[in-house]
Amino acid sequence: MEVIIQPDPQAASAVAARIISHTLRDKPNAVLGLATGSTPILLYNELVRMHRAGYLDFSQVTTFNLDEYVGLQPAHPASYYSFMFEHLFNHINVKRENINIPNGLADDIPGHCRAYEERIKACGGIDLQILGVGTEGHIGFNEPTSSLGSRTRSKTLTPRTRFDNAPYFGSESKVPRHVITMGIGTIMEARTVVLIAYGSSKANAIAQTVEGPVSSMMPASILQMHPVAKVITDEAAASQLRNTSYYRWVYEQKPEWQQF
Ligand code: PGA
Repeated sequence: MEVIIQPDPQAASAVAARIISHTLRDKPNAVLGLATGSTPILLYNELVRMHRAGYLDFSQVTTFNLDEYVGLQPAHPASYYSFMFEHLFNHINVKRENINIPNGLADDIPGHCRAYEERIKACGGIDLQILGVGTEGHIGFNEPTSSLGSRTRSKTLTPRTRFDNAPYFGSESKVPRHVITMGIGTIMEARTVVLIAYGSSKANAIAQTVEGPVSSMMPASILQMHPVAKVITDEAAASQLRNTSYYRWVYEQKPEWQQF
């Protein structure tokens, strides 16, 4: 696991954007796994800026989003479908037919989840998966105690996640109880995983994820088992890590060919 601590969310998002840009430079038809929530907004702003400046071409890219609420119309302002078009897809040249977001209105949710997994496979698997992390350690909507081998499926949100996401809905009671999310096993098959986390509310989750035991009680900790996992934080989210001077030193010593 590579831990990259940046002074602020802007700088951290710029590092994540450069990792995506390197991926697309090496593989213009890369398959990107995308996340929602407040954390990736700066990253998506930076991708849009790079695209407008002529540095990033998404014309051959395929995307798979991690998750979606069950029961929300795509046009609902808090749906992840709305989020992705507002913050990214409306502003870049990704093809509509190459965008994949779980359908929270599917009649047959288990069948839809199986088809989502099949489509990821048919596209050759995910090259680079962007992740946020919940205050209790979820990745996607894989809440604590999710099976570490889980696949795309329906999950029930914890009270804490419904509390955290209430601002998008106006009140906690309006936050859906159920979601569709890629599983932890699905996420672990991505070739590279980049987790971004900002703010002191994520400090405990980041410390447990990077330096704690691997446990389904802290789902993001499974990334310790991933061959190419990068954790990019601002100072506040890194504030409970013990080995920060080592992580900073490693980043400063990176050989030129590994830099982004
Ligand atoms: P946030 O959510 O980016 O809104 O903090 C992260 C997550 O739940 O994965």
